[in-house]
Amino acid sequence: MNSQQPFDRCAVLAGLGTCLPSRIVTNDDLARRLDTSHEWIHERTGIARRRVAAPGTETAHLAEAAARAALASAERTSCDLVVVATTTPDRTCPATAPRVASALGLAGAAAFDLAAVCSGFVYALAVASSMIEAGTCRNALVIGAELYSTIIDPEDRGTAIIFGDGAGAAYLEQGSRSDFGAVLEHDLGSDGNGRDLITVPPGERYLRMRGREVYVQAVPAMTDSALRVAKSAGWQNGDIDAFVGHQANIRILRSVAKRLGLPEERVITNIEDVGNTAAASIPLALASAADQHRLRPGDRLVLTAFGGGLTWGSTALTWPGIRPVRLTDQEGRRGADRHDAPLRGPRPPEAGRRRSP
Ligand code: COA
Repeated sequence: MNSQQPFDRCAVLAGLGTCLPSRIVTNDDLARRLDTSHEWIHERTGIARRRVAAPGTETAHLAEAAARAALASAERTSCDLVVVATTTPDRTCPATAPRVASALGLAGAAAFDLAAVCSGFVYALAVASSMIEAGTCRNALVIGAELYSTIIDPEDRGTAIIFGDGAGAAYLEQGSRSDFGAVLEHDLGSDGNGRDLITVPPGERYLRMRGREVYVQAVPAMTDSALRVAKSAGWQNGDIDAFVGHQANIRILRSVAKRLGLPEERVITNIEDVGNTAAASIPLALASAADQHRLRPGDRLVLTAFGGGLTWGSTALTWPGIRPVRLTDQEGRRGADRHDAPLRGPRPPEAGRRRSP
């Protein structure tokens, strides 16, 4: 098949970058001021620590650093489109993405924010991939960036223990469906009747979550979405090499994996170290899996998210064998001043575009 023919053209993951604030807040730190304990939090959620940005940090700073890292990972300097998926835009108006694009030196790039709470990254991946497939743009930065510390009530043990700050970004470019890294299928959905389950109520400052009700809905919704996307990709359950679910609760991930019939070693988790980072969760989990050498080029991946809205979504893609680049928030800011992100070390031998057999 000619790769230029529209029906074969698709978005390919070519770079992955992350930005985590350097400050770590442990469960014991929280237990010093809240009626909770490390044991309760770890047993019920799988979280041991999370990152919290320094005062004055803006979502754009984390987004920009993660995007800069993704460009370095892809060894690219240009980009047509910047999408920032976030629950915590720096301003109600305008969007965060144009500022990020300008800070990256991407003059004139299309740029907009996308609001789908914890499902934001998979929604943004679907939008940007579809635009690449349609030929509307040649490449795109899809960024999930969150500063939940700005909307979390420090006195609310139901949310303060769960959420963390961070950002992750993917660089997509045009390729074909047989390329390693091909973003193959999407499944998106919502149920606005659940809008009060995770919400910043009108006129209020802080997020409120009815955790148990969210939990109960998350498991079947994520399972069904993952099954639908795998089926669209023509995969049986056993074909999924790695399941990268939204890191909301380790027990949710285990329940979904069980229903999908996946063994634990195929379930990617990094929730212990970063907590729930909403739209940043899936790219951060992907990067940690790559860093731990848990993904091989050509592996079949299902990414599945669930969150406020309610919203949910899944992506089926193959792993390209790229090396993620990580920046801290301070490095990101220094990078922004320099307009030049460091690429850490040489690319691994398997890096670069390769085709499935
Ligand atoms: N420390 C200690 N005890 C706590 C606590 C905390 N941080 N939070 C709640 N509790 C208590 C409750 O008061 C309750 O006590 P009671 O039985 O005496 O009334 C008990 O623990 C159980 O509370 P519950 O809310 O039922 O706990 P849970 O097992 O559902 O865990 C969550 C709470 C928030 C961890 C869990 O519901 C969850 O992860 N929900 C999903 C969140 C999610 O997926 N979000 C997705 C998108 S962002």
